[in-house]
Amino acid sequence: MTRIGIILGSTRPNRNGEQVAHWVRDIAQRRGDAEFELVDLRDYPLPHLDEPIPPSLGQYQNEHTKAWAATIASFDGFVIVTPEYNHSTSGVLKNAIDFLFKEWNNKAVGFVSYGSVGGARAVEHLRLIAGELQMADVRQQVALSLMTEFENFSVFKPGDYNLPALTTLLDQVIAWSTALAPLRQAATACV
Ligand SMILES: Cc1cc2nc3c(=O)[nH]c(=O)nc-3n(C[C@H](O)[C@H](O)[C@H](O)COP(=O)(O)O)c2cc1C
Repeated sequence: MTRIGIILGSTRPNRNGEQVAHWVRDIAQRRGDAEFELVDLRDYPLPHLDEPIPPSLGQYQNEHTKAWAATIASFDGFVIVTPEYNHSTSGVLKNAIDFLFKEWNNKAVGFVSYGSVGGARAVEHLRLIAGELQMADVRQQVALSLMTEFENFSVFKPGDYNLPALTTLLDQVIAWSTALAPLRQAATACV
């Protein structure tokens, strides 16, 4: 079955991202057309990128990189849950992305974001990054405003009107993850 990783892109104490990622996971796991697993960056405490050879060459030397690569390689596609920090994504998520290359290639990705304008600016940056990583970023986004979807900016209370957007995002990620499977197999055969 198609496997989708839900990447929680904040590791901060008191992070809002955990509530958002759990909401995504709980709704996604009601579906029967794919498997969903939460990938919490706190469980992969990567240092600042410390691989001597560029990740695109795939010669990982460090055990933490190999563990992270094995996790990401096990998925067919992703939902990235991202905060907005200084009009971009979080440094910890960008660093985790930079560690790998082929493990991201030919996989779909959808974005669930939150911030004062729904994390829109963070996702625009992530879409550029996805292009360089040969990832297929789906159109649908879930953009959650800190003003309306979080009580006191900290207790996540999403309106039900977010559900159709999340459902469409998941539909699109599963469809493209499945459609790209032959390309992933061809790439594996070339290595
Ligand atoms: C370093 C930092 C920078 C931030 N910059 C922005 C910003 O540019 N735009 C925005 O909408 N919110 C910004 N915020 C507010 C965050 O979107 C908000 O705190 C959110 O809850 C952060 O996600 P997290 O709690 O999961 O870490 C910033 C927060 C931090 C910690």
